[in-house]
Amino acid sequence: MVLGIETSCDDTACAVLDGTGNVLASVVSSQLKVHRPYGGVVPEIASREHLRNWLPVEGEALRVAGVELRDIELVAATRGPGLIGALLVGLSLGKSIAYGLGVPFYAVHHLEGHLYSPYLGAAGEPATIPPESFVGLVVSGGHTSVYRVEGGRISTAAETRDDAMGEVFDKVGKRLGLPYPQGPVVDRLAEAGDADAHPFSVAKFSDGSVDFSYSGLKSQALLAIEALERRGVHSPGGNVDAGDFPPELADLLAGFRAAAVGQILDRLERLLESGPFEHLAVSGGVAANRLLRRRLAEWSAERGLDLALSSLVYSGDNAAMIAHAALRRHRLGLEDDPLEAEAASRLAI
Ligand code: KG4
Ligand code: ZN
Repeated sequence: MVLGIETSCDDTACAVLDGTGNVLASVVSSQLKVHRPYGGVVPEIASREHLRNWLPVEGEALRVAGVELRDIELVAATRGPGLIGALLVGLSLGKSIAYGLGVPFYAVHHLEGHLYSPYLGAAGEPATIPPESFVGLVVSGGHTSVYRVEGGRISTAAETRDDAMGEVFDKVGKRLGLPYPQGPVVDRLAEAGDADAHPFSVAKFSDGSVDFSYSGLKSQALLAIEALERRGVHSPGGNVDAGDFPPELADLLAGFRAAAVGQILDRLERLLESGPFEHLAVSGGVAANRLLRRRLAEWSAERGLDLALSSLVYSGDNAAMIAHAALRRHRLGLEDDPLEAEAASRLAI
């Protein structure tokens, strides 16, 4: 029985997995309502909310899993990267629970959690064993990275040189007065638009690098919004229905989304040419993006690749992925010292 804890940002999450990686419970308590008035996450508020939420969230996870704390045999918590105060709450809880129970402790890298999450089983379904080697794309609010995983060794193949994909969705949505987190709202409104009516170019580096860059696309989108406003087209803001959203803005968001997704496919195509792979695993909050899911499914099918898309319940932050990564480490004979593990806001994978 593995207890997972994840508090790197604004979600307080606790999960219980059995030794084969099956998820017995995965509870995520969102702090959305608390941060929404500020349009983004307020770090100090997030830390305090984690403290307040922990006991009910842990209690719920144990209850759903049908186990008691003394049945737990491994404890795992996220050590970074993330908001330092928020990380400290979950990591300290994990260390003390493990120390108190006298069981092994695992301080897990948040991105390692995301990376393997496409191989988590949906509720009630068994986990699938990750292939020996695969390419992992992690797209979230803080990261846009591609990793090559070979026999448990992880190396970075590409990463963003500036903004993350989720971050630019949030910023463009915020400019339109949409509620936090703006990414899913922008995605929903873009569904009603015509990307060809307002195309944006896909960023490329002149040195041929496969790294990502999203700040240029963000600036282009913000300038285009300003231009529409000068012509009297304004976003109603709030949790607007597609029917009440100006069609010109929907086209703009569709074009923006198509270019953002287009960049992912451009980089994957070039990575495939430079070093073939058979398995692609896609995770992180932005893996919920509708267009990204459709395009990746087509692209992988055309090339005969095996695509593992993280299920919607595990694409955003959750503790099941942290427990899952710890279980892999446990099988490899790795273990962390609960008295030594330290939280880190920035942390190489
Ligand atoms: O992995 P995650 O929950 O937290 C981080 O580690 O960042 O990812 C959250 C990010 C936010 O930027 C959110 O706006 C974005 O994922 N996101 C989306 C969608 N759903 C979530 N972005 C675009 N389209 C979506 N459907
Ligand atoms: Zn995340």
